[in-house]
Amino acid sequence: MFAKALSSAVLGIEAYTVKVEAHLENVSPSKFFTVGLPEGAVKESKERVLAAMKNSGFRVPQKRITINLAPADIRKEGTAFDLPIAISILTALRQIDAHYLDKIILIGELSLDGDLRPVKGILPICINAYNKGIKGIILPTQNKKEASYVPGLKIAPADTLWDVAEILNGRKELSITTNKNSFNLPTAGYSVDFSDVKGQENVKRALEVAVAGSHNILLIGPPGSGKTMLAKRLPTILPGMTMEEALETTKIHSVAGLNITDLGIVTTRPFRPPHHTISDVGLIGGGTVPKPGEVSLAHNGVLFLDELPEFKKNVLEVLRQPLENRDVTISRARLSLTYPATFMLVAAMNPCPCGYFTDPKNDCTCNEGMIQKYLSRISGPLLDRIDIHLEVPAVAFEELTVKSAGESSASIQSRVQSARFIQTKRFEKQPIHSNAAMEKRQIRKYCQIDKEGEVLLKSAMEKLGLSARAFDRILKVSRTIADMENTESISSVHIGEAIQYRSLDRSNWIGG
Ligand SMILES: Nc1ncnc2c1ncn2[C@@H]1O[C@H](COP(=O)(O)OP(=O)(O)OP(=O)(O)O)[C@@H](O)[C@H]1O
Ligand SMILES: [Mg+2]
Repeated sequence: MFAKALSSAVLGIEAYTVKVEAHLENVSPSKFFTVGLPEGAVKESKERVLAAMKNSGFRVPQKRITINLAPADIRKEGTAFDLPIAISILTALRQIDAHYLDKIILIGELSLDGDLRPVKGILPICINAYNKGIKGIILPTQNKKEASYVPGLKIAPADTLWDVAEILNGRKELSITTNKNSFNLPTAGYSVDFSDVKGQENVKRALEVAVAGSHNILLIGPPGSGKTMLAKRLPTILPGMTMEEALETTKIHSVAGLNITDLGIVTTRPFRPPHHTISDVGLIGGGTVPKPGEVSLAHNGVLFLDELPEFKKNVLEVLRQPLENRDVTISRARLSLTYPATFMLVAAMNPCPCGYFTDPKNDCTCNEGMIQKYLSRISGPLLDRIDIHLEVPAVAFEELTVKSAGESSASIQSRVQSARFIQTKRFEKQPIHSNAAMEKRQIRKYCQIDKEGEVLLKSAMEKLGLSARAFDRILKVSRTIADMENTESISSVHIGEAIQYRSLDRSNWIGG
């Protein structure tokens, strides 16, 4: 007796199709084998499957059962094969009269009493199914919403193994529940707003520039100056996501098993603030069963590293690859996985160990050696990749007590949106979306400056002792500032503002 069903599994963030074959023989003693590199939860599947079949009212005769999961050379993880294993056995036993098992994907974990439980990675599985021309998918009801964002795939949600049998026997429809060729992503409601921040006009302006061009930014200021407060409000001014970005980010969150809103899709740009005790694996991903790290969970959004010098040096070190390549490759003996990691880095720190080096009102108790040691924790390659260094001064008491509210996040966000729109058009035929992502060649093409700008930049380099590495960063940020004014040419005013955002490059900064 033989039958096979189709299922699917996720490797990295891409799904592939798995054939589940069941071979049953009248040989004693009755046994149940699973082959095809089953791991952990897949090995335990047989116990759930047999109990679920019995408790759903099916007869389970004493047989020798062999299940093969093909392709047999990829390790299989998770509980999603429970359903296709059960269905292929029941089909081989002719307890189900299934006609189109070769045209649909079956996915779902079974409980001992035959209920279907949700599984991870549904979105990539559905996208793969659709791309492979598969007719439909039967999945746990709780995974339905996530699946419904793949336009044109037929979906049959089911609550129990019995329900699935009814669908396959033709007594229930394989209904189409997807009809969304395009969708309007809902905007998130936030409990915080930029209007909560008093004063700090220059700082807010710089944050707007950073978000408008997706520039990495480092906030430097004394304790209590509002760095954390400002960073927490960044999500409220991030531009909306395109459908492509939303699907990409959802895929990653789905693979990582993160809770994905009731809508089943990530609709707002992620804001990931990992604690400074995080490990390198936690930050860039990995583990025996590789999982995406914070840099990938922040894909298309913001990675916020508060108290930057507190992070372990080796952890900051591994940030280099994703910052440069906008993805992360995790190599294992048997395979190598690549997760996307296009994020805007926002970091915050004090200027010195006591925190008051730049503060005019408090005396700094650190000596030069202590400050240099502190700054050296983040020097070099990481700083190289940060476009904007911004000093955040403590706000004067009078400013904090003013009654009038500052500009709202909504109005800042609409300007950001317009600037991003210009960039989307500019880079339409290129693999990048923002000014920050420009490479040398693109900088030369899109950041041309006039004579006056050139003179200004040259004199700033000399007078302020700006490093050569600052040069390209200033050009990119100037491009964004010009975009915010909707002007094609970069003027010396734009360059002048961008130069302001290079605090750590100035030779008068200790350690600079
Ligand atoms: N500009 C401001 N407007 C309103 N409140 C502010 C402002 N700046 C600071 N505060 C208040 O001060 C508190 C402390 O700010 P916050 O924690 O963001 O400082 P920080 O710069 O992150 O300090 P630390 O270096 O100690 O982490 C905020 O929660 C807020 O209540
Ligand atoms: Mg803070």
